[in-house]
Amino acid sequence: MTEADRAAAGPGENFARVPFALFSDPATFARERDVLFRGPTWNYLGLEVEIPKPGDYLLGYVGDVQVVVNRTPAGGIAAFENSCAHRGAQLVRRTRGNAAQHAHTCPYHQWRFDTAGALLSVPQEHGVKGKGGMPADFDKRRHSLRTLRVETYKGLIFGTCAPEMPSLYDYLGPKIRPEIDRIFDRPIVVLGYWRQAVPANWKLYLENVKDPYHASLLHLYHTTFGIYRATMAGRVLMDDTCGHSVLRTADIGENPTEMKALYKDIDKYRPGYKLKDPSLFETKPDYDDRVTNMIMTVFPNLMLGQVASTFQTRHVRPKGVDGFELYWTYLGFASDDAAAREGRLRQANFVGPAGYISLEDGEAGRLVQRGTHGLGDRASVVEMGGDGAIADQDTLATEVAVRGFWKRYHELMRPAP
Ligand code: FES
Ligand SMILES: [Fe+2]
Repeated sequence: MTEADRAAAGPGENFARVPFALFSDPATFARERDVLFRGPTWNYLGLEVEIPKPGDYLLGYVGDVQVVVNRTPAGGIAAFENSCAHRGAQLVRRTRGNAAQHAHTCPYHQWRFDTAGALLSVPQEHGVKGKGGMPADFDKRRHSLRTLRVETYKGLIFGTCAPEMPSLYDYLGPKIRPEIDRIFDRPIVVLGYWRQAVPANWKLYLENVKDPYHASLLHLYHTTFGIYRATMAGRVLMDDTCGHSVLRTADIGENPTEMKALYKDIDKYRPGYKLKDPSLFETKPDYDDRVTNMIMTVFPNLMLGQVASTFQTRHVRPKGVDGFELYWTYLGFASDDAAAREGRLRQANFVGPAGYISLEDGEAGRLVQRGTHGLGDRASVVEMGGDGAIADQDTLATEVAVRGFWKRYHELMRPAP
């Protein structure tokens, strides 16, 4: 197919061309909020272990809209938009906590709501000294907070604004659930949080984590220390919609000749490099499947991953058309002994925002944002792994899951006929 043919075919042609305008157009960003995040998608909100007790709450996001996720007195989970039903003030300001008497009180005029979002009380509802107050027909039952439908899978909490959505179980589907089952097969604990501000459009991060091609090329550390090499056994899987994906690498032993040939023109493989502190990699494997890297995404904006002995959710929180926050929830297992926990925390240093992996991914996003700026008439070339049908592949030299993301994105974003 020629470039002219492809341009004429538009984005529907196997999604091997992605218009740069999608990364900087404010109208696109506004439409994503309405039809993607508030549309027929399940959005990651947090983990059940973060809100174990009745009254516990945390702040989550659906796109760039803040929501409060609550453990109710009966032990269920309820979520509502963090915007007061009176005049819209941000109701809850702390990132997480426990609501006294199972109620949230708005700072502005002190309207009180229960943890499921129902309006409990309105100060001066009946006026003062017989004057003022709300109209006689004011009905508190009609002024609840706007709630989301909430479901959980293996302790991951998701919410949707689309009441007719199929279940979360079906949304995840048979290719994604096994990856969650693998990590959440034992009780987890939260080891900590990171927030990484990235000056790039949020979709560039989804492209990044669906792109096994870059991982052995951008990241010197990955390649040199054998965490992720293009020569490893690798697979890219997608669900039926192609919106969710799994990238997995397994260590199948070294072939130095093959490695040297592959990296002969670039400096991202340096077998002579040694760590001054080799304890960074003295962690025991958690599974016997030799998986060194597992990067799973749930459309639109959750990533769940394993890099060596580190496990985390990464939630891509848009902050505008040209910026997002990567919100890391860093996981360990309840069964970890002190040495295992220490090992995970130490290893986190190289994976996280101040280390050698996420810092580089953030910079890659910034570079694309910068490089595409003002060039809305151009498009990226996404052909590694072929430009044919979007289907699973058993190689890491591929960008097929990036095309899968854009296929699903386009299905939801295109204007109704
Ligand atoms: S805005 Fe919340 S009570 Fe007035
Ligand atoms: Fe990366």
